[in-house]
Amino acid sequence: MAEERYRVEVVGLCGSLKERSATRRALEIALEGAAEAGARTVLVDLRDYSLPFAGMAHDPEVFPDVARLSERFREAEGILLGTPEYHGSFSGVLKNALDLMGFDEFEGKMIGLVGVAGGSIGAINALTHLRSVGRQLHAWVLPQQVSIARSYDAFDSEGRLKDPKLEERLKEIGREVAHFSCLHSTRAADFIRQWEQAAENPGGDQ
Ligand SMILES: Cc1cc2nc3c(=O)[nH]c(=O)nc-3n(C[C@H](O)[C@H](O)[C@H](O)COP(=O)(O)O)c2cc1C
Repeated sequence: MAEERYRVEVVGLCGSLKERSATRRALEIALEGAAEAGARTVLVDLRDYSLPFAGMAHDPEVFPDVARLSERFREAEGILLGTPEYHGSFSGVLKNALDLMGFDEFEGKMIGLVGVAGGSIGAINALTHLRSVGRQLHAWVLPQQVSIARSYDAFDSEGRLKDPKLEERLKEIGREVAHFSCLHSTRAADFIRQWEQAAENPGGDQ
């Protein structure tokens, strides 16, 4: 029986709690791209988590979602962070979630960034600030990122982006997170090590 192909897990974290959130929709599209590249995908919606403020003494029995969030991200191999631009930065709810986690959840992992803004300049500041946080967490933040401007007019009634090039860029960031997570995984490193140590390589030079 053929061995089932290994699939990396890519988790999206949505930094908006709004009912009809452009950020959530953008992340869903990026995760479609990750799934196209063969990843298992999960969207973390912080409305489903009851979290304390980071730094507050909290009883794990009262806030079991802190451990649930941590476990979700420990299992992730690739991460997509999605945020609305709020007052020239990323959202507080996303910062709090990130501050409740740390190296155990993020170190060495691939991160793709998606930002959504109401204004015409886009979510550049939010993305730049988030990139800096990713570096502090010792994650690999991909150079490509997606910024969606004028969010109120960016999506059609079916939740697809009106600009097909932007939709493709969103999918591409998801595909990149999946591909680079896979290349970076210990499984890939083990494979290369075994290949290099193989006594004879029938496809190599004579
Ligand atoms: C508190 C707050 C601050 C905002 N600040 C900015 C801003 O600085 N620049 C901008 O372009 N849009 C700003 N916006 C608009 C949001 O970025 C925009 O509505 C975005 O679509 C929200 O994403 P969401 O639909 O996923 O919640 C702000 C919205 C709120 C509620």
